[in-house]
Amino acid sequence: MVFNSSIRYLDEGLRVDNVDIEAILREVGTPTYVYSLRRIRENFHRLKSAFAATNAGIHFSVKANGNLDILRVLGDVGAGFDCVSGGEIFRALKSCAKAADIVFAGVGKTRPEIAYAITSGVGWINVENLGELHHIDTIAAEVDAEPVRVALRLNPEVTAKTHPYMATGHGAAKFGLTVDVIRAVFSRQERYPHIDFAGIHMHIGSQLGDTDATLTALGKLLALIEDYPRVKTINLGGGLPVAYRFDETIPRPDRLAEELARRLRGYNVLLEPGRSIVADAGLLLAEVLYVKRQAGQTFVVVDASMAELLRPALYGAHHEVLPIRHIEGETVTTQVVGPVCESADLLGRDRQLPPLNQGDKVALMTAGAYGMTMASNYNARPRPAEVVVDGDRWWVSRRRETFDDLLRFEN
Ligand code: LLP
Repeated sequence: MVFNSSIRYLDEGLRVDNVDIEAILREVGTPTYVYSLRRIRENFHRLKSAFAATNAGIHFSVKANGNLDILRVLGDVGAGFDCVSGGEIFRALKSCAKAADIVFAGVGKTRPEIAYAITSGVGWINVENLGELHHIDTIAAEVDAEPVRVALRLNPEVTAKTHPYMATGHGAAKFGLTVDVIRAVFSRQERYPHIDFAGIHMHIGSQLGDTDATLTALGKLLALIEDYPRVKTINLGGGLPVAYRFDETIPRPDRLAEELARRLRGYNVLLEPGRSIVADAGLLLAEVLYVKRQAGQTFVVVDASMAELLRPALYGAHHEVLPIRHIEGETVTTQVVGPVCESADLLGRDRQLPPLNQGDKVALMTAGAYGMTMASNYNARPRPAEVVVDGDRWWVSRRRETFDDLLRFEN
């Protein structure tokens, strides 16, 4: 059984590229994130070529996965980075990214973060707030920086079809600036002598299953900037969807890419994909701790939880669960749960799985995006190890946290 070009069963054992997962399990244990660098490169190249006609610059959204090996690999194949905090800029720079290839976004940038971004020389700041413009202008003057390139983030007042927590383009959302506010800013540009208003930014949500809302919003964006010929760069954010269920098909980005090529001729186009580059390159390995049958249910308690993978608890998100050793035959309706003291700590509801036993290992699939970056130490759980696979080789990219790590910041 093949799940994607990097992840498949071979001789009954789950493999990531040429590496048998059991080899990783023997040395690293569980819970552990595993990522295929090969798949990440492939996903990047697929997007790059889908959007080749617009010559889009791809800025990987670090919030999806900030692992340094992954950032390095993406930098090597020519990605820039979308960062939403000083910490993410720091990570990107540590991975050897060029500051000019970083866009700095975010609803609430602090003054020190803005100063850090400007002194580091980031390529763009995506602005969502008038107060932010004031900070940027005064800091740029203080440090005698070149005019800072800014993309105002448009809130197009278009509701994207996605989980409500992932929609960001409706008028009631906290994100971006509405058309009237942007027009008012453009009419007062001379108040900000240290800002170069060269771009416009928009991101209407994540895991966008259809492109209609994006195209409607794009129409509004183009109508707005028609009056401002200085705006030559359009950043369309991220949001490309991935399939989380094996039987799910998601639209290829081709239609969107074609429309962009047709409508954005003459513009410099940037994109900020996160999920579509890393999600299906990652999985979270866990061990079955207990099997409990009661009240007509079969509970499989694993050693991963909402602390390691928050998405099911926060969004009701679906991640397929696969046994590491393929087992043919009957299946049982199973509740895959974690050890955390919350009813929301349900990683897989009503899954048809072969009968699992104590000590069996499973993989939570498509966990490469918003997995480790949203992991916490809830219930004083040390965060998991991260392993990267590159062809035949694999290594621990981030070691498992220890109990001592949990106390590191306390007196
Ligand atoms: N650009 C901006 C301004 C964003 O807010 C986001 C995601 C992205 C780019 C990247 O979007 P992507 O290509 O990954 O869809 N934690 C949620 C997703 C939240 C996304 C937040 N913003 C999840 O686990 O699904």
